[in-house]
Amino acid sequence: MDIRFVTAGGGDVVAVMATDGGELLAAGKALDTASSGRIAKAMKAANFKGGVGQVTDILAPDGVDFARVLVIGVGKPDAADGLAVERWAGHAVKRVLTSGAEKLVLQPDALPSVSKAEAGSHAAMGARLAAYRFDTYRTKLKPDQKPSLTTVEISMDGPAAAKARAEKDAAIVEGVFFARDLVSEPPNVLYPETFAERLRDLETIGCEVDILEPAAMERLGMGALLGVAQGSSRPARLVAIKWNGGSKGAKPVALVGKGVTFDTGGISLKPGAGMDEMKGDMGGAAAVAGAMKAIALRKAKANVVGVVALVENMPGANAQRPGDIVNTMSGQTIEVLNTDAEGRLILADAVWYAQDKYEPSALIDLATLTGAVIIALGNENAGMFSNDEDLAHAITAAGQTEGEPVWRLPLGAAYDKLIDTPNADMKNIAGKPVAGSIVGAQFVKRFIKDGTPWAHLDIAGTAWKSGPYEDPLSPAWATGYGVRLLNRLIQNRYEE
Ligand code: BES
Ligand code: MN
Ligand code: ZN
Repeated sequence: MDIRFVTAGGGDVVAVMATDGGELLAAGKALDTASSGRIAKAMKAANFKGGVGQVTDILAPDGVDFARVLVIGVGKPDAADGLAVERWAGHAVKRVLTSGAEKLVLQPDALPSVSKAEAGSHAAMGARLAAYRFDTYRTKLKPDQKPSLTTVEISMDGPAAAKARAEKDAAIVEGVFFARDLVSEPPNVLYPETFAERLRDLETIGCEVDILEPAAMERLGMGALLGVAQGSSRPARLVAIKWNGGSKGAKPVALVGKGVTFDTGGISLKPGAGMDEMKGDMGGAAAVAGAMKAIALRKAKANVVGVVALVENMPGANAQRPGDIVNTMSGQTIEVLNTDAEGRLILADAVWYAQDKYEPSALIDLATLTGAVIIALGNENAGMFSNDEDLAHAITAAGQTEGEPVWRLPLGAAYDKLIDTPNADMKNIAGKPVAGSIVGAQFVKRFIKDGTPWAHLDIAGTAWKSGPYEDPLSPAWATGYGVRLLNRLIQNRYEE
């Protein structure tokens, strides 16, 4: 889909803004005047109140050049931020994407806390994110199921500043789409080796990509990661993606992702219902990959390294058993009491490797780690854990700005004790079914070195969402959650 910035757009459909109470903003008022009040009349007839995402859809109004006018609410003007403008544009795209219309004109207005240039670039961002589809394997789509929309014109006075901002934002959209595509791919197509190959492509945009195979991991002592992989015929991969946009020698920020390309649970086999969704159990790795892509595409002035642990968790003949004790690269041993608590096992070696090799100034890991975080927070917030107040606040703020919120949950010695065992240095599940997400975080924490500022994001509830896909900015199963948050965090906190 083509995005253009123009001063006077023309096309099939136009979208304008209205605020709480059904007040048209400037662009809508102009249309209403041109149509001798028909727009306002239609809004009234439809009992339109201007709430967020509410739409009045007006066909063939007299006096205007558009065949269809969409009046879309942005809610209370003082509460409307850049994300509200994105959702406004997203709702417009959602309405017309497969409608037969080829061209949509968006007429964004400034809001009390959104400048005109910001409104224009957020409109572009919202339009792009809303147009996402994963149709790779749909070979029999009927014409009216296929997107008809080819062009979105952002129509506004002085569009140059908005255009410049939107051109930079294109990198973020690319990153989000990369993550969504990876999460959406079926597990027979995307497995550790093919995932690693897709990451290799990041070399073309200036990243350094290192791919470790099992022999190298064996030499490093990554027994926890390899223990998970051993039940599958697909060999594991550990991939490091480096972006050196900061000063030479400056310590990088490390982003670490759980990349279980399919999680059957292993010998602690999951129940059958809904198991297909476990193709998305590499959502943390996808978020890291997408963030690295965005950071590289916009040539961020920061040193960042992404480390992803890629395995398939299968109950094969050589699978690890409940009761196995494995060694980790850190030297600590783990008693594996449940092979379905595999994410923490691969993270144990991945976060240690990231710290050992890159001595990062901070480490953030993302993982679809626990079903418990969905019970606690649903699909709205990721669970966040951190040993560093400043980092935690920066992550919270970045998530807020980007519409990828996190909610901080506690850590503590009493939770840590739950993974003690007489048989090894720790066990991979707690003795009782309590505080599952915290226990997972405590486990990962045992592999964080003293002095490494660290945060863990449990994204099991946010990496994908079951339909109907009501969020216009996230119109498919995979959300791409984490890419925007990480990119914003790097921009706000680590760029020179
Ligand atoms: N990948 C799952 C967590 C998950 C569940 C992600 C639902 C997305 C949706 C993880 O590997 C897992 O199986 N966790 C177990 C841990 C338990 C055995 C301690 C869980 O959450 O039940
Ligand atoms: Mn599992
Ligand atoms: Zn898992």
